[in-house]
Amino acid sequence: MNISVLTLFPEWILQGVNISVVGRAIQNELLTVSAINIRDFSYDKHKRVDDYPYGGGAGMVMQAAPIYRAYQTLMDKIQSTKSKVKMIYCTPQGDPFDQKMAEKYSKEEELIFLCGHYEGIDERVLEMIEMDWVSIGDYVLTGGELPALVMIDSIARLIPGVLHNQDSANQESFQGSLLEYPHYTRPQSFQGKTVPDVLLSGHHEKIENWRREQSVLRTFERRKRLLDQADLSEKEKEQIAQWESEKGL
Ligand code: ADE
Repeated sequence: MNISVLTLFPEWILQGVNISVVGRAIQNELLTVSAINIRDFSYDKHKRVDDYPYGGGAGMVMQAAPIYRAYQTLMDKIQSTKSKVKMIYCTPQGDPFDQKMAEKYSKEEELIFLCGHYEGIDERVLEMIEMDWVSIGDYVLTGGELPALVMIDSIARLIPGVLHNQDSANQESFQGSLLEYPHYTRPQSFQGKTVPDVLLSGHHEKIENWRREQSVLRTFERRKRLLDQADLSEKEKEQIAQWESEKGL
């Protein structure tokens, strides 16, 4: 997969992706990440990319032209390779990012992120470019760079070969809409707290059953609404109904 990020802070993106799992994926050529500086596409002699808002008000607005030129230059390059492109605009006004979106985007060949800064981007360029508007949560950041890095991290780890153990991508929190079961490693006793016996039993089926039950219980206790989308057995549904009646729900 190739990821390109249109940004005013390319070094922020490049420093963020060259670490840990994503950094290794790039080194192993499973992924490329390039950052394109929107400022390079300003025709202004001072390389300005923002201006005052029409109608007045606080803050500056990113101009349409440099963004559009950066986008077109990138698209010309990508389209000469005939790859399909998906573009994401990082904005608190977007659809909430979740694991399902990460899975969908991880199957794309070419992803482009557009990161805004200042108060916003001239609406006309947002109308001209076909993009998914995506938010990483209901809070406002200074720009789209951290959201782009968050999304790149969660997308990259789903690309086949990026995680050493692909099972860990498939089993964990949110895959199947359940939270992950608790983990333990050595020592067996830490400050008097011991590891659950079943994990020491060597009995694989019992361990699997215990982990599944813990996943369902955790989801019930912490993120109950996720259970509506989870694939549950009849027995698990009965168990949940029992927990609900015990809690007087
Ligand atoms: N840009 C600023 N805040 C954001 C958010 N919460 N999600 C995506 N992009 C943003």
